[in-house]
Amino acid sequence: MIKVTIDNITIEVAEGTTILEATRKIGGKIVPPAMCWYSKLKGSGGKCRTCLVRVAESSAKDPRPMPKLVASCSTPVQDGMVVQNTTSQEVLDARKAIVEFLLINHPLDCPVCDQAGECDLQDLSFEHGVVETRSEEDRREFPVIDIGDSIKLHMNRCILCYRCVFTADQLTDKRVHGVLYRGDAAEISTYIQNVIDNDFSGNVIDVCPVGALTDRTFRFRSRVWFLEPMDAHRECRKCSGKVTAWMFGNEIYRITGRKDQYGELEEFICNECRFEKKDRNDWVIEGPRKIKRQSVISANHYEKLIKPSVIQPIEGKMGKKEEKT
Ligand code: SF4
Ligand code: SF4
Ligand code: FES
Repeated sequence: MIKVTIDNITIEVAEGTTILEATRKIGGKIVPPAMCWYSKLKGSGGKCRTCLVRVAESSAKDPRPMPKLVASCSTPVQDGMVVQNTTSQEVLDARKAIVEFLLINHPLDCPVCDQAGECDLQDLSFEHGVVETRSEEDRREFPVIDIGDSIKLHMNRCILCYRCVFTADQLTDKRVHGVLYRGDAAEISTYIQNVIDNDFSGNVIDVCPVGALTDRTFRFRSRVWFLEPMDAHRECRKCSGKVTAWMFGNEIYRITGRKDQYGELEEFICNECRFEKKDRNDWVIEGPRKIKRQSVISANHYEKLIKPSVIQPIEGKMGKKEEKT
């Protein structure tokens, strides 16, 4: 075991642990945001730079600081390392700049985006974003395309984190999509718009940190904060069958995998569970799911409204509000 100090908290971790993993062992506010690293996807990380931290002392043997901020998701800790995240103004300024950079080409789509309310970029912009843009250039624009029956790609919203590419590569038999071109022209695309057609392809929707990949069977049906997330399970031959069912009254509006406090799936689920089982009788409902992540769906802002919002789900009645957390 080796010792590392992060924002003045010292812990012991196993050799080979990255700085980001070490912060997650401590938990709370000192955990840097991670838009591209995903603990269950080998090779992910190093793309978005949101997780930058300052290494104030490299190790007990060599206490010199590292000359530049480093990506915490891909930098292993050394014995005696001293790391600053929230305690470094340089890191906080860099994070602000990175959010500004991520938003240079991002559309102002939140009011019509299915990801709103559970979007990493939305949360990050809320915390570190600035109101005005300094960019004068036109945003890049792409047509919205269907990738098969169940997935919609809004390339305008993509931050090129590569998570969906790693997911398709590591979970499915044949990957038919990837990042084409380079630099400003880079885009997620399928080879001659091939359909992503295999049992676990729907997981690209859950790993996408923004609303670039959305579920066509749920599109525009409701804002997520009007729904009640419930843990549910069924016998499934392809996956564990453990999901979150997003319900309005007795009706299931969408099925996703169960996500942890960092927005990562506990387990990947199959397309049959995700897209085909929307009947209440398909599932054993276990009870309300506690949303641990910091987001609008866990903030209860909407529960305090006295008057109902003008934007209502299509039918049914809202269930008991205090169960939604
Ligand atoms: S991806 Fe996130 S930030 Fe972008 S429009 Fe959708 S909710 Fe808003
Ligand atoms: S589509 Fe989503 S998951 Fe894929 S690279 Fe873009 S932002 Fe990442
Ligand atoms: S999470 Fe580390 S660079 Fe994206």
